[in-house]
Amino acid sequence: MIWHRHTHMALHDRFARPLRDLRISVTDRCNFRCPYCMPAEIFGERYKFLPKPQLLTFEEIARLTRIIVRQGALKIRLTGGEPLLRQGIEELVAMLAEIDGVADLAMTTNAFLLPQKIDALKAAGLQRLTISLDTLDDAVFRQMNGGRAGVDKVLEGIAAAEQAGFSPLKINAVVQRGTNDHTLVELARFFKARGHIVRFIEYMDVGNRNGWRMDQVLPSSEVVALVDVEMPLKPAPGNYYGEVAQRYQYRDGEGEIGLISSVTQPFCGACTRMRLSPEGQIFTCLFGTKGTSLRDPLRAGASDDELAAIISRTWRARSDRYSEIRGLLTEAAREERRKVEMYHIGG
Ligand code: GTP
Ligand code: 5AD
Ligand code: SF4
Ligand code: SF4
Repeated sequence: MIWHRHTHMALHDRFARPLRDLRISVTDRCNFRCPYCMPAEIFGERYKFLPKPQLLTFEEIARLTRIIVRQGALKIRLTGGEPLLRQGIEELVAMLAEIDGVADLAMTTNAFLLPQKIDALKAAGLQRLTISLDTLDDAVFRQMNGGRAGVDKVLEGIAAAEQAGFSPLKINAVVQRGTNDHTLVELARFFKARGHIVRFIEYMDVGNRNGWRMDQVLPSSEVVALVDVEMPLKPAPGNYYGEVAQRYQYRDGEGEIGLISSVTQPFCGACTRMRLSPEGQIFTCLFGTKGTSLRDPLRAGASDDELAAIISRTWRARSDRYSEIRGLLTEAAREERRKVEMYHIGG
């Protein structure tokens, strides 16, 4: 269904970047407490997550998606928090799968609840799955998810996804120097043998709560070097415009890995992503400080055209390129910036 795109008036931002992807965060809750995202000290029992009435309903999400797709978005990804914690998420998947013009419908999940959800997701029309798994070392993994799950749970989720026919999977691993860098090659080897694509993500300064420090970032170039020594790699061309990951293929022809290098090699120049938060705000950058509410006008009775006008105005005014300017900011300026949190906007 890509053909009808060209007949539409393309929407571009101030740097001529088109709107192509919509990432929908369906909940701010998560059953993990990864210290780089939702540190348990902050997100404890008394932390107030969004109350249900504040969340967009599935009907509201589907309506906004329809409008945003009409403005050019082709790829839809469901995120959280943990998207499988949203009750009846498969119903939303089914509603989105029906929208004309959606060329890709994917989800990023920690896989904990996948075994019980996978068949319903498949039946609803989910096309692709990305699973977060930072390491195969159980002790390291527990440390990286706040002690909420062992590796076996995630591997069960992965097995369930394979059985349901999701293949290849993408496996997202956040890389933290001094935490899981000694386990990366093992992770690559394991999933190479199973035909899935590991993507190593440079640890980012998303939000204000993870105490990010540059010395915890292991540059992707070093990750490539580590893997290459054991299993030789060669750079591969991108799959599509604005792809976040840089691809490397194994020279033996068996599979590939991806590197997501937002810190050392920012990719803002081709950033085509709009993000919708659980309570209906759109953000034009993962490091945004302020969203634009669509829920308020929607609930006040705005028409599709009126909502479309807010969306296009917001995209046209967009000039975000945080990862490209990160290095120019002083540490104080970086810390002062009140950024939206990762668990809220879904990465
Ligand atoms: P594909 O459609 O399969 O290519 O997926 P994707 O790579 O676009 O989606 P995914 O959710 O797997 O993204 C991987 C990770 O890259 C996210 O979890 C983020 O950590 C990071 N990421 C994605 N988009 C952006 C972005 O716009 N800016 C930055 N800085 N990081 C991003
Ligand atoms: N830096 C890089 N990646 C992160 N993720 C969450 N927090 C960070 C961070 N600070 C990743 C998760 C998941 C995806 C949604 O984003 O591990 O794979
Ligand atoms: Fe949950 Fe994903 Fe954040 Fe970990 S990174 S706390 S799994 S939303
Ligand atoms: Fe896009 Fe912002 Fe990420 Fe740059 S930092 S790639 S503008 S989301």
